[in-house]
Amino acid sequence: MSTDSRFVEAASLEELEREGRKLVSKNGTAIALFAHDGEIRAVDNRCPHMGFPLAEGSVDDGILTCHWHHARFELSCGDTFDPWADDVQTYPTEVRDGTVYVDPNPPLEKSPATHWGDRLETGLEENLRLVIAKSTIGLLDADVGYREPMATTLEFATRYREMGWSSGPTILGCLANVMDDLEPADQKRALYTGVRHVASDCAGEAPNFDQPSFSTTDVAFERLKGWFRDCVEVRDADGAERCLRTAIAAGHSEAEVAELVFAAATDHPYLSTGHVLDFANTAFECLEHVGWEAADDVLAALIDPLVTATRSDERSSWRQPVDLVALLEEVYGGDVSETSGLEALVEDGSGKTWEPTPAFHETLLGDDPEAIVDGLADAIAAGASAETLAAVVTEAATTRVAQFGVANEFSDWNTVHHTFTYANAVAQATRRTDAVELYRGVFDAAINVYLDRFLNTPPAPIPKPGEHDTGRDPETIRTALLETFDTEGEVNEAGRLVAEHVDCDGDPAALKRTLGHGLLREDAGFHTIQNLEAAFQEFDRLEAADVDAASAHRPLIATARYMAAHFPTRREAEQTFTIASRLNRGESIHGD
Ligand code: FES
Repeated sequence: MSTDSRFVEAASLEELEREGRKLVSKNGTAIALFAHDGEIRAVDNRCPHMGFPLAEGSVDDGILTCHWHHARFELSCGDTFDPWADDVQTYPTEVRDGTVYVDPNPPLEKSPATHWGDRLETGLEENLRLVIAKSTIGLLDADVGYREPMATTLEFATRYREMGWSSGPTILGCLANVMDDLEPADQKRALYTGVRHVASDCAGEAPNFDQPSFSTTDVAFERLKGWFRDCVEVRDADGAERCLRTAIAAGHSEAEVAELVFAAATDHPYLSTGHVLDFANTAFECLEHVGWEAADDVLAALIDPLVTATRSDERSSWRQPVDLVALLEEVYGGDVSETSGLEALVEDGSGKTWEPTPAFHETLLGDDPEAIVDGLADAIAAGASAETLAAVVTEAATTRVAQFGVANEFSDWNTVHHTFTYANAVAQATRRTDAVELYRGVFDAAINVYLDRFLNTPPAPIPKPGEHDTGRDPETIRTALLETFDTEGEVNEAGRLVAEHVDCDGDPAALKRTLGHGLLREDAGFHTIQNLEAAFQEFDRLEAADVDAASAHRPLIATARYMAAHFPTRREAEQTFTIASRLNRGESIHGD
């Protein structure tokens, strides 16, 4: 198309100069024309911030100011003085024979993928929620997929936060894990949510400077692993980072690197209320999305949380009235960081097959810590793998959330939540490595299930199969479930609706999409996002194990209850997302 043919008649020059401005609509685009300083300028009428009509703005000294939040734009090129507002689109103009012409579809200077990729980086650097929303939506609309922006965001997260891994990249990883369970529009919300949390975590933080790997990679793995654990034990971040980077540079497998990390993450029980192992597991999961080539920076970000962690063997609840740590040390081989006792049990169990019994499940949910620890040890000696045991303990931890009594203090939701996500993280970690150290994570989770026992007093009832077979249409039930999130205190009703959905043969995938939407339209915090992701992972595991539908849905009952306890929120992030979506689609927001 020639340049001339792209230009369309827009206004009389005489009229525009007399009025100073004019709003025109060309090819469906509302354009604000200005005559200023002897020049004709044209900009998108929608303020890139929140869509206020710029034709109603002020022009002075070459600056267009939007009156709503006072963002200023350089009138000739549209660049903003106020990055939170974003740049405004400008259009070329020409004057021919007293008539102003405008090109409403100028050629793009960059492809949409490049443009939005650049904007994503700006949004991260300056922690600009609107720019992040526009760019994540723009990238997915340009069919870039979530992995590329996720890799960019992870790189940013690890470079610009001296204190390393945090809730932001964990949220990003959790949401990437459930991406396939979401509606396309919610996939955009998920990416936006993950990226904005990373940007927020890094805002104002000191950058991170790497410790390099050793100049030799010729160190035996067991020695490297020993050095790494020793460094973490004495909270030596630099030494630990050099060991970890050396293990990766030496080309050790993902399973070996996982062994090294999860060994240190379980050398003391339940580090930082479980967050350290949770972070580590999510970091490995992130690498499944973006590729192992990012392993050195992504995993090195775990060092700070590892070396600064609080250790539960130093907490009174693990020492009084029962010395739970002593019970564990007896099994481990004399110390919390030992594994010789576990190795002996594993040897005893070699070649044997173990299946959990109903009595074993009951023991885990009981009030006898010695019986719990002995039961786990006996199971190992009978051939139970860490993966199998972690799965059984995760079921018990799920029950603690599903049966959380609403009369408890609100903050106690997080006590059962932490146990649940920790148990799930241990279970996920056992897929990566069969390191004997991970049995300790199973014991930690089981001890927490024991410590949380009073939070199921009285237990919220878990619906029995068929108890809520109302014959209602599953879609109606899902709508009702979403509605429970609009009102405070609908905890038990949310759980009941999930059970009704099962009883009425509802599609679990549709239920997950509904729960995902319910989560992402809220200003959901770190824990709620983690909770849903862990519930989806546990549901998938149970479904693959071919358990009955009611049992498989228990994690979804648990997370629906947890969500209902924390919703509704102000939904501010959703407002930004909606505005960004409409601006990207070229829609008018405030009427042109
Ligand atoms: S500054 Fe224009 S809409 Fe906010």
